[in-house]
Amino acid sequence: MKQLEGKVAIITGSTSGMGRDTAYRFAEECAKVVVTGRSEERAKAVVEKIKASGGEAVYVTADMSDLSSAQKIFDAAMNAYGTVDILINNAGQLSLTHFLELTLEEWTRILNVNLTMAFLLGQLCAKVMKEKGKGHIINIASIAGTSARWGATAYCTSKHAMVGLTKAMARELGPEIHVNGILPGAIHTAMLDSVGGEAAVGGMIEMSPLKRIGQGSEIASACLFLATDESSFITGQLIRVDGGVDC
Ligand SMILES: NC(=O)c1ccc[n+]([C@@H]2O[C@H](COP(=O)([O-])OP(=O)(O)OC[C@H]3O[C@@H](n4cnc5c(N)ncnc54)[C@H](OP(=O)(O)O)[C@@H]3O)[C@@H](O)[C@H]2O)c1
Repeated sequence: MKQLEGKVAIITGSTSGMGRDTAYRFAEECAKVVVTGRSEERAKAVVEKIKASGGEAVYVTADMSDLSSAQKIFDAAMNAYGTVDILINNAGQLSLTHFLELTLEEWTRILNVNLTMAFLLGQLCAKVMKEKGKGHIINIASIAGTSARWGATAYCTSKHAMVGLTKAMARELGPEIHVNGILPGAIHTAMLDSVGGEAAVGGMIEMSPLKRIGQGSEIASACLFLATDESSFITGQLIRVDGGVDC
């Protein structure tokens, strides 16, 4: 039996990068996947690839800087599959704007996409999971969630808050719901490419005992572990998947 047989998973930001790799991995494990992002073209392509491999998925396009998107995404999942077992709050936007240049508009957009949507979607999904007596919520933060070395103000603040949100949700949503987070280091995705790719993180490769950046599939593996009973006594934790850069 596959590890996620019969489970419904909403994965935000699954049109690209580590969210997309997680969508593919979860579909391979027989989850029904709800793919989200702004790009309809890429969302459709992810769903088509999953279906071509015999899996099940639907997509919903939504701009998560608009907070009404939480209800839209939740409703799409409920309309398609009638329930939700796993929520991965993965969608995120990078901001490298210096504190002194940061506008309230950018601050609000980054906080909405990276943090507030996780709260809103978490609240909607947790009500269903509580009733079912079981559920898993996984928040994708960042190593910028524990140190200001890795990101500018808005991004860094959103990721630090994601760490706090994960711990608070775990305390308040147990015993039925497991809430954990992942702190990725440099992972080869479109986000990393947008700031110069591997060449731009040379320092991190040097700092890592593994001497390389990570792949989205390595985040997908951590998500799978946290979404199954393999992690049955783990909640409120943030797992670093960063090649050991801070060890
Ligand atoms: N890559 C890294 O090195 C790294 C390190 C630490 C943490 N992270 C975190 O990992 C998560 C995934 O990032 P990634 O590296 O996989 O980046 P990515 O390839 O750029 O993917 C980001 C995903 O988020 C979605 N997204 C972004 N803004 C959105 C918005 N306003 N509304 C709806 N969806 C939106 C994108 O979909 P559309 O483009 O279709 O809207 C895409 O599916 C993020 O939370 C990021 O902060 C990444």
